[in-house]
Amino acid sequence: MAAQGHVIDHDVLSRVIAVESLKGGVGKTTIVANVGGYFALAGARVLMVDLDPQGNLEDDLGYAGDGRNDEGESLAKALMFGGTVHAITGVRPNLDVWAGGGALHNVTAALSSEMGRNPAAAKLALARILAPVAGDYDFIFLDCPPGDGVLQLAALSAARWVLVPSRTDMSSIKGVAKVAERIDQVLDVNRVIDLLGVVLTDVGTATARKDGTVVIRNAEKDARHALDEMFGVGDDDGIGRDIVFHRTVRHSEAVASQARNAGLLAYELDERAKEETKAGIAWWKIRSGELKNKQLTSSTAGSVADDLQAIAQEINDRLVDAETTTELEGAHA
Ligand SMILES: Nc1ncnc2c1ncn2[C@@H]1O[C@H](COP(=O)(O)OP(=O)(O)O)[C@@H](O)[C@H]1O
Ligand SMILES: [Mg+2]
Repeated sequence: MAAQGHVIDHDVLSRVIAVESLKGGVGKTTIVANVGGYFALAGARVLMVDLDPQGNLEDDLGYAGDGRNDEGESLAKALMFGGTVHAITGVRPNLDVWAGGGALHNVTAALSSEMGRNPAAAKLALARILAPVAGDYDFIFLDCPPGDGVLQLAALSAARWVLVPSRTDMSSIKGVAKVAERIDQVLDVNRVIDLLGVVLTDVGTATARKDGTVVIRNAEKDARHALDEMFGVGDDDGIGRDIVFHRTVRHSEAVASQARNAGLLAYELDERAKEETKAGIAWWKIRSGELKNKQLTSSTAGSVADDLQAIAQEINDRLVDAETTTELEGAHA
């Protein structure tokens, strides 16, 4: 591995958000794709970095078959040896991606051995290659793999903010505490890292059966309570507000699988549903065989899209708040 300095200008990385959890299947990739998608739609320049050897981001964004999708080859090389990553540009207007995939397995091995010799250099592998291009983007989202390996440490070492998606069950909540411990492990190379908040995912809606509703709602309430206790509500050491985002991402199996199968974001799926309605495509036409091999787009897409848009809005609010506070502190210093 190339010998490199450990001094990184974290100022240029001030809009790097790592979406991280120890668990898989909690909605990290969904949030990166959709929240990042909203920022790009709103005109911000966005980069998404897929650090997962499983490379699920390609399904959510629909670039799996793009000739430029190298399954993480270019990103892996840059993480190990430095240099430039070949971005897939224009995945959507204003949106570039550093593709992930199987090639990242090699990085885990290489960085793990580097960790023994030079931990700071290993941790900063991602920060080092992001710093030169960070100025080209308003937001950089890191889609992290599950687990607690070196790639997570590299992500946290590059991040200004950490967003933790979690389910509402207690084992998931405990996982959030573990992410907080991981943050402590990179403070030697990244003093500015902070928790942006916890987003509760896979949350049931009030339209479920009556007896089920109570259980689901309690689960969310309990989760909020446990997380508030864990981090201290309104603790001014942190972001000075609730640790848990006000909005949650509701559970919808149909929307999730249709979106991923089509390579569409939730709001794009919702647009498709509306077009189908306009075109007079209804379930009864499909059932009667009038329209064959057609699956109607879930009408819940709009609700899931609303949830994810609200999360994007809340991220923006929290960032603006934090940045305003920092500026004021700077002015008073
Ligand atoms: N709102 C949702 N309701 C139900 N399933 C969802 C929802 N969002 C995502 N999923 C599904 O859950 C699985 C895990 O989501 P994903 O975003 O890939 O999580 P992670 O990146 O944390 O592994 C995927 O199969 C995805 O399609
Ligand atoms: Mg994922």
